[in-house]
Order: sequence, then structure tokens, then C-alpha cells
Amino acid sequence: MSVLSGKKVLLGISGGIAAFKTAALVRLFIKAGAEVKVVMTPASKDFITPLTLSTLSKNPVYSSFTDEENENEVWNNHVDLGLWADLMIIAPATANTLSKMATGNADNFLIATYLSAKCPVYFAPAMDLDMYQHGSTKKSIDTLVGYSNHFIPATSGELASGLVGEGRMAEPEDIVAFIEKDVQDKLPLKNKKILITAGPTYEAMDPVRFIGNHSSGKMGFELAKVAANLGAQVILVSGPTKETVAHGLITVIAVVSAEEMYQACHQHYADSDIAICAAAVADYKPAEVADQKIKKKGDNMVIQLEKTKDILASLGEQKKHQFLVGFALETNNELENAKSKLKRKNLDLIVLNSLQDKGAGFGKATNKVTLINNKEQIEAFELKSKTEVAQDIFNTILKAHA
Ligand code: CTP
Repeated sequence: MSVLSGKKVLLGISGGIAAFKTAALVRLFIKAGAEVKVVMTPASKDFITPLTLSTLSKNPVYSSFTDEENENEVWNNHVDLGLWADLMIIAPATANTLSKMATGNADNFLIATYLSAKCPVYFAPAMDLDMYQHGSTKKSIDTLVGYSNHFIPATSGELASGLVGEGRMAEPEDIVAFIEKDVQDKLPLKNKKILITAGPTYEAMDPVRFIGNHSSGKMGFELAKVAANLGAQVILVSGPTKETVAHGLITVIAVVSAEEMYQACHQHYADSDIAICAAAVADYKPAEVADQKIKKKGDNMVIQLEKTKDILASLGEQKKHQFLVGFALETNNELENAKSKLKRKNLDLIVLNSLQDKGAGFGKATNKVTLINNKEQIEAFELKSKTEVAQDIFNTILKAHA
């Protein structure tokens, strides 16, 4: 999955022949899972039509301060558009547009939008050889780099004028790869390893029966996805679940019992930076597992159970540099029980679910959590989707771990 998946990309097109390549650029962003909106200078419309770009981006294309198609002249808000974007790319950026960006000459909608954008801005120049070499162009580029805009250099090759040299806009594939790498490099959990447990465990009684619980695994899987989207390498140790995930940064280790989960966690804990135990691990398991199916006998049956290993507590005991997060599912005396679990298991953060809250707990798409850190600071959240809950948890981890 691309790091651009779910990102809002604003493409600004200025008037050069390389504008024809922006159709491919829009398609690549869409293929990467981004949402794309396009802003054009009036001159760029001579090189590629707004209809092409709106069809490919599935969004209206903006090129003037008012909506020309609408007789009521609706005002196009460049500020909203600039704030909407997660990133802006100006490609091709002509000498004229570079100069206007550098001097803040907002005489067209694209420059006004650029000046309103608070997101990272990338620019890919395209022009003829001598224009690209001119001191004025170089000065504009230096000024924009000084504004922390990201310069995607032009490449060498045959130019529209017939001259051969530097000035060709970088190819659309290379522009997308440049932006993906830059976004990836800046992810807050890049180079971090995160261990996450998820789902239930099944404790065998005999070859066909087990003791289990209703955990769906969804919360752990959502945590894994959010962590990977923040750039972390994730080891997801999961008990039996219907959940699936396909992400280059997530390795799923499927386990069945608490003992298998314990072993897998300890294999990966030493070099993990963060560990989150979201699994609903069985607290007890049958003391003996029958080799053959247990036959029906009298009216009653007693199964001797013994304690499983507490994985989270064992990680707490061996904690060195790791940031350790546990969950607490409580029905009464919630805050006090969660605080005591946080201390007993040597955690940095505990996520409290109360079964008294509607929509929280096992098998639901939503959850309502309260986060308590090791300084006993408490943060209570509303009922949210498990994806949003996972984001809230990571926002808190990032604040504490920064
Ligand atoms: N946990 C674990 N290994 C176990 C039991 C629990 O890693 N054998 C972890 C869970 O993943 C969760 C936390 O411990 O992060 C708390 O689980 P919970 O069942 O709420 O608490 P327990 O410690 O089992 O205590 P109790 O059942 O008495 O509330």
C-alpha cells in the first residue's frame, strides 16, 4: 500500500507543454489511493483540458476565483482548497509560475491557493534549457527551497524546442516516487518496531474442543494498520480471527493458545520500541489436554484449569527501553482497577474499556476508551470507530514517546 493512500493531493498545473503529462500524474495519484483536486493556471488550459483532469480526478477543476460555468458566479475559495490538501504539487512549474510563487504575485487562482496552503509543497519545473539555466529561474528555485518547498529537479533530454539539455519535467512516475519517499521518510514511527497482540486465544481441552472468548481481533488489527501507516514495522501476533490485513510493513504471526502467543511475543520483544497487548488472552487453560475426544459420561463434568502466563505482565517485568501499553476490560470500579493493572504490570499506558459503556467491547465496530498513563493522567474519549480509537491511542503514544 502506498503512503499516499488516503492523502488529499492538490495538483497545480501551469502553462507548459509538459502539462499534457499531468493526466498520467493524476492517474498515478489515484492509483496510489490518494484523493486528487486540480488547480490550473489559465495558460495551462491550452495544453490539457479541465474536462480530462476532472474526469480522471473525479473532482471539479479550479482555475479562476469565480465559477465561470455558474451564472451566479460562485466564489471559489482558495483558502479552503489550500487548507484541504495534505500535500500540494505544482507540475509543471513554469519559469513564470516559479517567479510568482517566489514573489507572492497572486494574480491567478493557482498562486493564491499556493500561498494559502499550509501543507508540504512540491514543485517540478519544466521549461526550455536556457530558461532553466537563467539566474532568475535559479533564484526563484532557491527562494522556494528557502520557504521549505520541495524541489523535484527537471531532467535532461530532448525539449519541445528541439534543444537537448536540462529542462524536462520529471516523469510522473518519478514525481510520485519522490513524494512517496519524502512522506515515508518523515513518518513519525519510521524505523520503529511495534509488537501488537490481537484476538482471542483458544485453550484446547481435547482434539476438538477448546475454551475461548468472543474477541474479534478488530482493535488489534486497527492498531497495526495505524502503526504501519505511521511508518512502523509491525509484528502482529494474533489469535484465531476473521480479520485480515495486507500491508508491506505488517507481519502477522498467527497463534492459537496463550502459550504460543507468549512465545511469539518474547521472540520479538527485545528489539521492539513499543508493545501493545490488545489480545483477550485466556486467563486459565485446561490443566490436561486429552489425546482423544472426551466422551460423554455422567450428568456433570469438572475440568481442572490452571493459570496461563500473563504475557503483558511478563513484558512489564522485562521492560527496558520499550513503551508498554495494555488494555483493561472492566465491568465495575473501572478507573481504580485499570490504575492498579497499570502499576502491577509496569505499563506506560493503559486503555480502559468499560463494559458499562454501550458500543464498547468485544465484536463491535466501535469502542469507547479512557487512557491512563503512568503519571495517572486520564484522557476520556467519546464512542468512536475502532480505527479512530487506534488513532487516538497512537496520538497519545506519540506525545508521550516523542
Ligand atoms: N493479558 C495478557 N496475558 C494474559 C492475560 C491478559 O497479556 N494471560 C493482557 C491483555 O492483553 C490486556 C491486559 O493483560 O492488555 C489486561 O487484561 P484483562 O483480562 O483485563 O486483565 P487481567 O490481568 O486478566 O485481570 P482480570 O481478568 O482479573 O481483570
